[in-house]
Amino acid sequence: MAVEIDRNRWSEGRVREVYRWTETLYSIRINADVQPFTAGQFTKLGLVIDGELVSRPYSYVNAPHEDALEFYFVTVPQGPLTNRMVALSPGDPIEVMRKAAGFLTLNEIPAARHLWLLSTGTAIGPFLSILKTPQPWQRFERIVLVHAVRHADELSFADTIQRLQTSYPEQFQFIPVVSREATTFALQARIPALIEDGRLEQRAGLEIAADRSQVMICGNPDMVKATSTALEERGLERNRRRSPGHVTVENYW
Ligand SMILES: Cc1cc2nc3c(=O)[nH]c(=O)nc-3n(C[C@H](O)[C@H](O)[C@H](O)COP(=O)(O)OP(=O)(O)OC[C@H]3O[C@@H](n4cnc5c(N)ncnc54)[C@H](O)[C@@H]3O)c2cc1C
Ligand SMILES: NC(=O)c1ccc[n+]([C@@H]2O[C@H](COP(=O)([O-])OP(=O)(O)OC[C@H]3O[C@@H](n4cnc5c(N)ncnc54)[C@H](OP(=O)(O)O)[C@@H]3O)[C@@H](O)[C@H]2O)c1
Repeated sequence: MAVEIDRNRWSEGRVREVYRWTETLYSIRINADVQPFTAGQFTKLGLVIDGELVSRPYSYVNAPHEDALEFYFVTVPQGPLTNRMVALSPGDPIEVMRKAAGFLTLNEIPAARHLWLLSTGTAIGPFLSILKTPQPWQRFERIVLVHAVRHADELSFADTIQRLQTSYPEQFQFIPVVSREATTFALQARIPALIEDGRLEQRAGLEIAADRSQVMICGNPDMVKATSTALEERGLERNRRRSPGHVTVENYW
């Protein structure tokens, strides 16, 4: 029996490309008719599997003004959706929720001098979307993007990051963190430990402090929690609509 899909909520998109970064990391690029979104937000992608629409949330990697929609994902062992998405070919249908959601957006962030964007794994995606818009560069004197991965080959989007470095050489810094491999260029530890022992700030040449910093954190929920705790110990507070603070988070699971 065909599955009934609410076409007011779901757009039938078409795959443009499934780009393989590594054996487990992919970008999927899609043409779909979606509603305008704000950089940093996520939508849902879905496929009909065994007669049911199976959908999951994914952050937009493309900026709102960019035509092709892009999402960055890791194949999770036994994951129902990700293992199907990697098998898609150009032209295949994929469901995209028209309306985006989420509050990991700059309009939720109070004014500050410095913006820190801390991510693990695939959660670099929403930060790239934000950095591809003009707003962060107009609002913050300095922006530090931190990408923590297990192995160096998981540091995707080198070209995008290089372009940002070329466009904003004084304003932008990228700090790679590779936890399970020694490299000549990356910090080797977990983000909370790098905050606790001061190595992250030393590398950035900037202090994290409540009077100057806004921090956005996205990815592994255990990292989000431990990092928030490390920042609270420095006097930074969770940013909420009713009580503005310094730390804005999104958990991926
Ligand atoms: C707000 C939000 C935004 C998200 N955006 C993205 C995104 O842009 N890219 C993306 O890959 N995933 C993202 N996710 C996770 C995504 O929705 C799926 O859970 C994931 O792709 C796995 O789907 P699955 O059906 O294959 O397996 P599931 O059955 O959904 O697998 C669940 C398990 O896989 C692990 N897992 C799930 N997602 C990840 C991940 N990204 N990295 C490492 N381990 C993970 C966790 O242990 C989780 O319990 C997001 C989740 C939320 C809540
Ligand atoms: N990455 C791979 O090689 C690989 C391969 C196949 C499948 N997968 C699947 O993909 C999923 C996760 O992959 P991932 O590597 O993108 O995400 P991840 O496990 O969240 O790791 C990304 C980074 O976050 C760090 N991290 C993990 N837990 C943390 C915590 N509590 N506090 C602070 N930092 C923490 C990791 O450090 P540590 O290294 O110290 O944990 C690593 O640097 C899993 O489901 C896995 O089974 C991954």
